[in-house]
Amino acid sequence: MKAIVYTHYGPPEVLRLADLPKPAPRENEVLVKIRATTVTIGDCRMRSFTVPPEQWLFARLFLGVFRPRRPVLGMELAGDIEAVGAKVTRFKPGDAIFASTFEADWGGYAEYKCFPENGMLALKPANLDYGEAAAAVGGGGTALRCLGQANLEPGQKVLVYGASGAVGTNAVQLARSLFGCEVTGICSAANLDLVKSLGAAHVLD
Ligand SMILES: NC(=O)c1ccc[n+]([C@@H]2O[C@H](COP(=O)([O-])OP(=O)(O)OC[C@H]3O[C@@H](n4cnc5c(N)ncnc54)[C@H](OP(=O)(O)O)[C@@H]3O)[C@@H](O)[C@H]2O)c1
Repeated sequence: MKAIVYTHYGPPEVLRLADLPKPAPRENEVLVKIRATTVTIGDCRMRSFTVPPEQWLFARLFLGVFRPRRPVLGMELAGDIEAVGAKVTRFKPGDAIFASTFEADWGGYAEYKCFPENGMLALKPANLDYGEAAAAVGGGGTALRCLGQANLEPGQKVLVYGASGAVGTNAVQLARSLFGCEVTGICSAANLDLVKSLGAAHVLD
């Protein structure tokens, strides 16, 4: 299968197209034909090895001391189940899914990925296309968790700092539509219209 790999830490130029073996699902796994993935700030930091000094050693041990241990980035994806292992009951070939690769060693920048059927994947809502579903996983999940811990009441005012990013764009929409709050979004001037269009009552550069 085709995949985008990195074998050294560095700028975007370290990424290259490569041929890797197509994975085969074990008896409790599903094989996903990937239709969409994302490039997140997490991918960029792992690729460039941009970490705070105090996390350098831990990050290096985790990601790979001399070179990246997991050559295929991509922390979230959406696609179709192409095959299932003999003991899989939750999914069947043809199911459209979206997934996080957080517990599966990344791997979204590729044509195929195997997941345990009880892994971090779910059926894709029919009203989302593959790109929208993939992009909802990390930023949407993070925003929902953070807002959920704030005990928000309808009508409260919420400030979203970094409102134009993956987490922020989801936070603006969820704070307004799910929690009924009045949102002020902070972002660069170039993104003010975007954040306003997502439902922020006020936007600040
Ligand atoms: N995405 C995830 O699933 C996830 C999960 C857990 C934690 N996080 C963490 O959450 C944070 C945001 O992640 P993200 O994925 O939303 O990143 P992102 O898509 O790169 O968005 C970054 C946001 O921060 C703003 N920003 C950048 N530099 C800034 C500065 N110097 N001062 C003020 N605002 C600045 C950007 O605004 P402009 O582009 O408009 O300038 C943008 O709104 C990161 O620290 C990330 O590690 C993310």
